Amino acid sequence: MKAKQKRIHVSEQGRPTAPGNNLDPWYSSYAARAAGLSASEVRALFAVASRPEVVSLAGGMPYVSALPEDLVTNAMSTVMRDEGPTALQYGSGQGVPKLREQILDVMALEGIKASASDIVVTTGSQHALELFSKLFLDPGDVVLSEGPSYVTAMVIFKSYQAEVAHVPMDDNGLIPEALRERIAQLKAEGRRLKFLYTIPTFHNPAGVTLAAERRAEILQIAQENGILVLEDNPYGLLYFNQQPPNAIRSLDEDGVVYLGTFSKTLAPGFRVGWALAPHAIREKLILANEAAILCPSSFSQMVISEYLSQADWKGQINTFRGVYKERKETMISALEEYLPGCTWTNPNGGFYVWLTLPDDLDSKAMLPRAVKELVAYTPGTAFYADGGGRQNIRLSFCYPTPEQIRVGIRRLANVVNGELDLLHTFTSSGPLTTRRSSQSFNAPPPNMS
Ligand SMILES: Cc1ncc(COP(=O)(O)O)c(C=O)c1O
Repeated sequence: MKAKQKRIHVSEQGRPTAPGNNLDPWYSSYAARAAGLSASEVRALFAVASRPEVVSLAGGMPYVSALPEDLVTNAMSTVMRDEGPTALQYGSGQGVPKLREQILDVMALEGIKASASDIVVTTGSQHALELFSKLFLDPGDVVLSEGPSYVTAMVIFKSYQAEVAHVPMDDNGLIPEALRERIAQLKAEGRRLKFLYTIPTFHNPAGVTLAAERRAEILQIAQENGILVLEDNPYGLLYFNQQPPNAIRSLDEDGVVYLGTFSKTLAPGFRVGWALAPHAIREKLILANEAAILCPSSFSQMVISEYLSQADWKGQINTFRGVYKERKETMISALEEYLPGCTWTNPNGGFYVWLTLPDDLDSKAMLPRAVKELVAYTPGTAFYADGGGRQNIRLSFCYPTPEQIRVGIRRLANVVNGELDLLHTFTSSGPLTTRRSSQSFNAPPPNMS
């Protein structure tokens, strides 16, 4: 068989015009913005971690098996029977009008009053993040966000050559005073601040929720400084005990762009989310949506619309809440039992617990050993743009069963204890003991700064 020839572009003088490297001959042809799209260092490890014997506490996949199959198949067959040709056709770049009306009912649960004409349906809220970034970010701009923050939003911001500036949180979410200081500092440096990206409710990855009084304060700071707020709220309806405070968007319709999704309250496979934006921005978002994808999937939107019309969707959200609440409680009690020397957040909703390891442990360095012990997690460094988070781990309780969660935390404890013993061996001049120093085990309450 003839060996495959390597393709190289050459100029008239016969010199390569696009000198690449051994892995990618087109390396030097990419646009500068593609440099922001680098695979995370732990990605390869996650391929190993997806083996069935590994308990994965790493991903953020909703437990879609808790959604009765007939609820979806009934909606699908009704759509195909009654409106098949429309569902299979291109549609409006803004989204199906009936679904946009129904989205108003979903958002009303979090105190939002709006008009369906200000909603743009997108291919998941991830796509809304992409469109919004395309509209607002120039190279060198600064996006403010909580530290830590949602990793794949930061990938988008970086792909538009913007920089992420983190603002610390505590157990009540983003700290308003720290936001004020960060803005003042960046302005003094002459930086161009574009927007505040925030996940105020059941934060990914921190699990914390922005307190009600802080919501108004943060809005005021944004207004004073002429900064838009991009509120990303995939988890707000998935609370366990008390309902969280109303969305930030319920307090201001001019300075907030709100992102919602059906990924966590129904299923991510539909890929349907939305942006609710002030009028002028909405217009640009529609144009950007059309340029990118022509229109969101008519089929998915119409099936969701039918589901919202005929199924007890609020009851189904309640079912999801029960499932995740049990898993969260299992995780917290396993942490108390097996990892008493760590600290963690205790979320009232959503999918994630943010764990702080004892001093001197490095979650990224520890990951290969964890995978060898058949447990996977996401190291905290993934959620910082500035190299922070080494002492942190994001643990997801959404997908594994309660039994798997207990096994996973027990395995994680073995890894942590093994690392501490190793550390002790190399740092202690005294006799080797199997337990770690009590100092690192009495860590202060988690502070995500
Ligand atoms: C904070 C946050 N924003 C956006 C998304 C994207 O969700 P989707 O595109 O499925 O709506 C996720 C997904 O996990 C998320 O956690």
